[in-house]
Amino acid sequence: HAIAVAEQDYARGGFAHYLRKEIADQPQSVAGTLRGRLDHRFATARLDGLNMTPRELRAFRRVKILGCGSAYYAGIGGAQMIESFARLPADAEPASEFRYRDPIIDPETLYVATSQSGETADTLAAVHEIQAKGGRVIGLVNVVGSSIARGAEGGIYLHAGPEVSVASTKAVTSTLVGFALLALLLGRVRDAGPAAGERLIAALEKLPAQIDDILAREDAIAELAGRIAGSQTAFFIGRVRGHMVALEGAQKLKELSYVHAEAYPTPELKHGPLALITPDVPTVAIVPSDHLLDKNRSSLQQVKARGGPLVVVGHEHPGEGLADELLLVPRSEPELDPILLGIPLQLLAYHAALHLGRNVDQPRNLAKSVTVE
Ligand code: AGP
Repeated sequence: HAIAVAEQDYARGGFAHYLRKEIADQPQSVAGTLRGRLDHRFATARLDGLNMTPRELRAFRRVKILGCGSAYYAGIGGAQMIESFARLPADAEPASEFRYRDPIIDPETLYVATSQSGETADTLAAVHEIQAKGGRVIGLVNVVGSSIARGAEGGIYLHAGPEVSVASTKAVTSTLVGFALLALLLGRVRDAGPAAGERLIAALEKLPAQIDDILAREDAIAELAGRIAGSQTAFFIGRVRGHMVALEGAQKLKELSYVHAEAYPTPELKHGPLALITPDVPTVAIVPSDHLLDKNRSSLQQVKARGGPLVVVGHEHPGEGLADELLLVPRSEPELDPILLGIPLQLLAYHAALHLGRNVDQPRNLAKSVTVE
């Protein structure tokens, strides 16, 4: 028994929980996703596992991403990276719904199935649906040799290392990084010039050190988590790129702490949910310093006017009276902002769960990979 316990401790790397270890792993897991894939000479990504020639890649007219839960949210982020960098229309859809709507499969669309485990039944069924109708699907998968990895015609392995905790953290981050690599490659085989490619490569290379920087601010996040843990409910809001960060942040809080949370696109708040904002309902707002900063400031004012406590996750203070708490992350390139903005929210959910004495590695009612319908 003592040996088994010692082995477990070793696997957790001295941390109290797998989840905490996996959050701490991220500088290395992101480096793992990037390793050997950044090509400075041609300012592009090398993704040999795709098994597709530049010519084949150039021929796609759309990208459709499928995944479940947090993998789906990461897919939303990935679709935005592909649209903005490669200027190729892209969107994400929950894999769990896909086959039931008898989808039209388009031969000029590149389908991407994304899954940490590679065993999620709904995502695997989406792969089969696409293939049965003659579509081409690649995988963005962490577990090597898993069913989705084997079923897809090619793909990108995340190389994030094993993820044991039921709540996904480092795999979500590496999935976003994997999509950034795909966006880089698709952009460079299309119209993005070498300078644009280099800009993204330089930003990708900075990520591991920037993640370290965020992790060093854990104490302040833990303190804030104590207060969130005392709430009945919380809102998470973000615009465009920030929206998937909000969805994923709310998901982590629900899953780990069982505190109710809802995510909305920021401008949707005024179309209904604003009615629920009171001094007892905190809002976590994703506010990067991008072209939407001013729009975000007016949304923050709307929340403030209803007395709602505001936690802002961003690059700088949004302005007098617009944030009660601030979680700052280092700046990246706008396409990559969601990667860093999500990390404080992992720590927030983790510490809220600790505060409430939850079983952080195995939340109630959940399984690591959902292999049933
Ligand atoms: C994430 O925290 C969840 N546990 C869950 O949403 C998960 O991301 C989803 O079930 C998909 O799993 P997969 O990546 O292994 O396919």
